[in-house]
Amino acid sequence: MDSHTVLFGVIGDPIRHSKSPIMLNRAFRERGINGAYAAFHVAPGQLEHAIAGVRGLGFRGLNVTIPHKIEVMSYLDEISEGAKAAGAVNTIVNDNGRLIGYNTDGIGYVRSLKEEAEPNLAGKTIVLLGAGGAARGILWALAQENPASILVANRTESKAAELSASFSPDLRISSIPWSELRDACRAADVVINTTSVGMSPNIDALPIDPSWLKPGSVASDLIYNPLKTAFLQQAELIGCRVHGGLGMFIYQGAYAFEFWTGKSAPVDAMRAVVLESFV
Ligand code: ATR
Repeated sequence: MDSHTVLFGVIGDPIRHSKSPIMLNRAFRERGINGAYAAFHVAPGQLEHAIAGVRGLGFRGLNVTIPHKIEVMSYLDEISEGAKAAGAVNTIVNDNGRLIGYNTDGIGYVRSLKEEAEPNLAGKTIVLLGAGGAARGILWALAQENPASILVANRTESKAAELSASFSPDLRISSIPWSELRDACRAADVVINTTSVGMSPNIDALPIDPSWLKPGSVASDLIYNPLKTAFLQQAELIGCRVHGGLGMFIYQGAYAFEFWTGKSAPVDAMRAVVLESFV
């Protein structure tokens, strides 16, 4: 660091568990960028001041995490189409004083799914479990890949219906009742768990009966703690290709890096440093 160092950070509450600083600082070093990335604990009432600080101190970029991803939108100058569709911003680019909000969670998830499990989503049938913020965050990005259909199922069925109805019909996102899930999974090419079921510490819980899955299809889980959920372990046993949630975290950071620097992200180095931090 010196007097030319360009500043970046992540804000959230809580924030001390975040792996983003080690991942992004490693990426800057790998690409020879004089940047520094820190974690800032920002309580809900301080969000507006924090964003004013980004402007005042001339930070080049900021990541935004829970609980600020929705409220932060009201303090920015421009919101990307994907962030509008996701209803949330997780990455801010400071473009000469103009703050632009993006959502790299959805596109990060899709890039990870394509790199690690299924390169071609066009024409595929996708079943998505859950209808919370995580589901909303990835639906628009998934729909950009032109799948044949995306069927959303949720324990509270009205939430699945509301969520799917909030997207334009040409995105081919619809909801199905939980009772139709078994048949839908049998026919699906990709089944994605966006619910919190199976997250540590409840690591034995399953969002659906894995025997509903079609051998050879892709089972994907947004959860990355544990790295391989019970859902993925069981899916693997019946012959599915499995895709865990760590890649989504790596690639949301990779897109943020690319938006800020204009350089390609050193994805392998970023993944390695995050994996090292788990042990
Ligand atoms: P997130 O922002 O992580 O998506 P959320 O908005 O609280 O968190 O959503 C959690 C999702 O997990 C919801 O779809 C929730 O279903 P409900 O809408 O019916 O609550 C789902 N979920 C949580 N616990 C569940 C369980 N035991 N069985 C099935 N779905 C569950």
